Amino acid sequence: MDFNNLLTLSYLIGSITFILGLKMLSNPATARKGNLIAAVGMAVAIAGTIFLYKDGEGNSLHNYPWIFGALAIGTLVGFMAAKKVKMTAMPEMVSLFNGMGGACAGLISIIEFGHIVPKLATEDSSAIAGSLITIFLGLIIGSVSFAGSMIAWGKLNGKVKDFSFPGQQIMNTIMLFVMIGIAGYLVVGINESNAYLFYVILAGALLYGILFVLPIGGADMPVVISLLNSFTGVAAACGGFLYDNKVMLTGGILVGAAGTLLTILMCKAMNRSLLNVLIGSFGGNKTAGATAESGAGGATKEISVSDTAMVMAYANRVIIVPGYGLAVAQAQHVCHELEKLLDEKGVEVVYAIHPVAGRMPGHMNVLLAEADVSYDKLLEMEQVNDLFKTTDAVLILGANDVVNPAAKNDPASPIYGMPILEVEHAKTVIVNKRSMKPGYAGIENALFFQPKTSMLFGDAKGVLQQLVAEIKSL
Ligand code: TAP
Repeated sequence: MDFNNLLTLSYLIGSITFILGLKMLSNPATARKGNLIAAVGMAVAIAGTIFLYKDGEGNSLHNYPWIFGALAIGTLVGFMAAKKVKMTAMPEMVSLFNGMGGACAGLISIIEFGHIVPKLATEDSSAIAGSLITIFLGLIIGSVSFAGSMIAWGKLNGKVKDFSFPGQQIMNTIMLFVMIGIAGYLVVGINESNAYLFYVILAGALLYGILFVLPIGGADMPVVISLLNSFTGVAAACGGFLYDNKVMLTGGILVGAAGTLLTILMCKAMNRSLLNVLIGSFGGNKTAGATAESGAGGATKEISVSDTAMVMAYANRVIIVPGYGLAVAQAQHVCHELEKLLDEKGVEVVYAIHPVAGRMPGHMNVLLAEADVSYDKLLEMEQVNDLFKTTDAVLILGANDVVNPAAKNDPASPIYGMPILEVEHAKTVIVNKRSMKPGYAGIENALFFQPKTSMLFGDAKGVLQQLVAEIKSL
């Protein structure tokens, strides 16, 4: 078997493991293994490229110190970042890493354009038109993804504030068309004197990425990151075309398709269109005024930890609704302890998982998996909504918007139309949060004021620890 066949085989292994890994990622039980399998496949494809690749003249890769130096630095930084990152800061890290992918695609275009420029004096522009199209696509999409992801990252960690000005959307659209126009002009008539326009496109794409993400509400960032992620995939696929590299093409297309599907699914789960996410500024500065429209208000009823323990311990079925606050409090382990304790007492305990509970797709599944909660106890919204009617007690832990009835009965509410967990059908509803402050959407929740609802104030971890101790002593 010659080097070329072995290289093709390594790419085949890479491509198959990507697809397998992606499939396994769709189930919490297999997600970790899927991630590992895809990573091993990627390592095989990278090793294949480094050691087996030969160009048309039979030369292998060189520059090994640079290649291995960069690989070592990248591996170390990636490993440390992934080890250190808190679960709640995961969207930030995804955004940062995604931005790096976009930057890579942009850099590939810059380097390959540098290889084309010396040929401009001798070669007819039609001979290089195909390469130029791919180079410009990679440059524009990669640079937009890089700059946009950096702004998204800044917004998530609070360093960048929402910013917009009148006519910004129109200006963005004009900018996009101007960039495409210049790229088209260069594809048909590039020469040595107008080649500098390449860098005008680069600057325009970076500016476009910044202006595209700046006005979007900070809280909508997960959707934007997923969209930018799909951009990065497409930009990487352009690199695959450019180098005739099948594994890069497959990987890029898979990332592009997965990112697009995830974006659509997130929008669907929030009952919003992508356009509304991109220009609606939901969860941003504007939602501060939404409270008055929610129709919530009145008196709330509090419940003590010992009374909560009694309700839980003597129930037939308890449904736990985890939300963003559970992740903030890092209370997943003690939550699992409570579940096991109730289980031992003969209480049936399940978790109700809303598709957008938390701040990223699958947030609650990952969080609870970390605490070894059995996957068959995690019920999707469609499965669990019927179960509430025959449930004695619901314990809401740091969730707010995903149980807000305004989504069903207040057409003026910004979350109107979003499917919710219909907890109010249970006999008793106990809500744990630290205060009466609103959640992500910035609106009050009428559920907290309903007669069957009791508030159990406090940090989720502390409250659950007390609850566990109390139930043990019963
Ligand atoms: P939220 O509506 O954001 O509510 C979380 C609640 O947790 C807050 O009201 C907060 O109240 C409470 N909390 C915070 N820290 C706590 C702690 N240490 N202990 C106890 N409670 C604590 O969360 P949710 O119900 O999970 O809804 C998610 C929201 O994010 C939805 O609006 C969704 O559309 C949005 N979103 C989600 C995604 C994905 S993909 N998951 C993507 C984009 C947007 P206190 O401050 O009073 O404690």
